[in-house]
Amino acid sequence: MKIKIIVVLLAIVAAACGGGKKETVPPSTTATPPTYPDAYPLPINELRADRGKTLFQSKCTTCHDLDRKVIGPPLRGVTQRRTYNWMMNMILYPDRWVKTDSVAKALHKEYNYVQMIIPGGITEDQAMAVIAYLQREDAQSMSQP
Ligand code: HEC
Repeated sequence: MKIKIIVVLLAIVAAACGGGKKETVPPSTTATPPTYPDAYPLPINELRADRGKTLFQSKCTTCHDLDRKVIGPPLRGVTQRRTYNWMMNMILYPDRWVKTDSVAKALHKEYNYVQMIIPGGITEDQAMAVIAYLQREDAQSMSQP
């Protein structure tokens, strides 16, 4: 009898945890933002940058272009004006970052307080890939005459 109840309970727990779509958005309300290194990972991982390009096209281009201002700022050169830590926080925790970082705060004001919301959310790994793509674009822009 006892075993039967346990089995039923386990089934309920499994149903509650399973089924639902996996949440990929990092909780943006975490009290202390994680800190990443200021320096970008080098050398640029080509496969990761390729994956980042696809992600950029699906998750960022509604608001960003490399060269034109859309809803958000143009992103070419961004890896030269911001640190890696800044980028990771801006992409993963935009709502919190525009409140805590003075540069992000000013940018948020300049862009009429439009909230950066990434369609479908973004994982840390995906953010790293998008950054690798932007980093590669910037490295290529630099090497052009
Ligand atoms: C709904 C529109 C929207 C989407 C989607 C969006 N952004 Fe933004 N982004 C903004 C806005 C608006 C700003 C200006 C700052 C602010 O108001 O938050 C911004 C700022 C930024 C900045 C800072 C730029 C600078 O000059 O310092 C980076 C980096 C950035 N976004 C990266 C991304 C990436 C990468 C994605 C996709 C994964 C993305 N954004 C998706 C709207 C968006």
